[in-house]
Amino acid sequence: MPGSVSASTTHYTRNIDQGFVAKDKAPHASFAPLPPSHRIDTFPESLLSLKQRVCTRSTIWMQRRIADRGTQCLRADVFLMFVRVHSDEKRLARMQQNLRIPGPTPIPPAVAESMARPMINHRGPEFAAIIARVSAGLQHFFQTTQPVLGFPSSGSGAMEASIVNSFSPGDEVLSVTCGAFGNRLAKIAETFGLNVTRHSVEWGHAADPEAVALALTAIPNARGVLLTHNETSTGITNDIQALARTIRQQRPDTLILVDAVSSLGCIDLRMDEWDLDVVFTGSQKGWMVPPGLAMIGVSQRAWSATERATLPRAYWDFRAARKSLEKGQTPYTPPVSIYFGLDVSLPMMRTEGRDAIFARHVAGGALVRERARAMGLRLFADPAFASNTVTAIEVPKGVDGKALIKAMRENEGVVIAGGQEHLEGRIIRIGHLGYFNEADLTACMDALERQLTALGHRVPTGAAGA
Ligand SMILES: Cc1ncc(COP(=O)(O)O)c(C=O)c1O
Repeated sequence: MPGSVSASTTHYTRNIDQGFVAKDKAPHASFAPLPPSHRIDTFPESLLSLKQRVCTRSTIWMQRRIADRGTQCLRADVFLMFVRVHSDEKRLARMQQNLRIPGPTPIPPAVAESMARPMINHRGPEFAAIIARVSAGLQHFFQTTQPVLGFPSSGSGAMEASIVNSFSPGDEVLSVTCGAFGNRLAKIAETFGLNVTRHSVEWGHAADPEAVALALTAIPNARGVLLTHNETSTGITNDIQALARTIRQQRPDTLILVDAVSSLGCIDLRMDEWDLDVVFTGSQKGWMVPPGLAMIGVSQRAWSATERATLPRAYWDFRAARKSLEKGQTPYTPPVSIYFGLDVSLPMMRTEGRDAIFARHVAGGALVRERARAMGLRLFADPAFASNTVTAIEVPKGVDGKALIKAMRENEGVVIAGGQEHLEGRIIRIGHLGYFNEADLTACMDALERQLTALGHRVPTGAAGA
């Protein structure tokens, strides 16, 4: 479980050159600093050069328009150029927010820079070299020797792909749901005509392996079990190792599908060692790149199932994706810029090290939870299974949850998420995954304390420094 990270009243300032900087305190010892390759010193420089490029392009574009159409176009073109540059400035201001939602997450400047590169032929040798490096990096973090497939989509595309490649109409599956994303996977399975038995766990709690085993007993022909590693809507992390072990003992051949969208690359998940069959994630979570790519690991058992599965599939066909990957391509046009980004972020992650990344997320989760408790707030998730990528905090009585989120954004430049479905207005969620450091989280919690106080919540005296 998390090591101790002290809550602190240290004040942090958002510094254009160095990101969030502690005014009066060095980072906590248990919170390892990010490696030099992750530093954000280049941030403003890269943004400035981006702005210069935009200005230069606008000017060239304006000159061309004048040449093409004559001087009567001048005013409109000058106006348009102004709009472009101005909106670019607004965008730069937005990019300096402390984005603390559970994805999309901030991205390192080196990654942003790499993604601004000119396009290349996605069927050419440069892309083949990139996809080979990216695949190897993904295998390392999926902890698998199997090829990791990429589909241009968000995480929900991976959910659908996993279902249609694994099953046939009428197949029986057990769906273990702990929140909104478990429900989404179950619903997709139902949409495709599977016979789904839901084992629903109360929101805020994790699945109990024995209870899952019991539920499985009632489905002698279950072809698969659908699990969520990290339930982003409630902030719990299921013990996938224990769940998979129990399921395997009972059903050696049942497919185990794992939604690891908001955990892979942040929280330990060993695809091969834990004998998981289909594991998927989304680029906008722990991978330090923007949304746009779903990544899916497929076991030998799942490859055999794919050959037998008869659900209709075209765009999502695993076989086509594997065949293309062997040629250094994807079946359809890939999000080339995301691959550029991953080609930079994955080596950064390798430099930091898998275990060090997991430890940083443990420390991040502990910091946020500890600060929340010290403010007299209740955590929504069972503490024994509290997620280290997202923390759900109950909105205290008398405080308007939506007003709190608005105040955080408008007064502090800190963007946090609200609750989903029946939890809307009842909880807030703070993301701590991917590219973050201690100062980012402390700044967020300091801001939360100020805004809660402004909205009438009484923070216990001295609690923030406890
Ligand atoms: C656990 C989990 N599964 C699935 C999804 C769906 O991913 P997307 O929103 O990228 O479609 C999310 C998104 O937050 C998620 O957190």
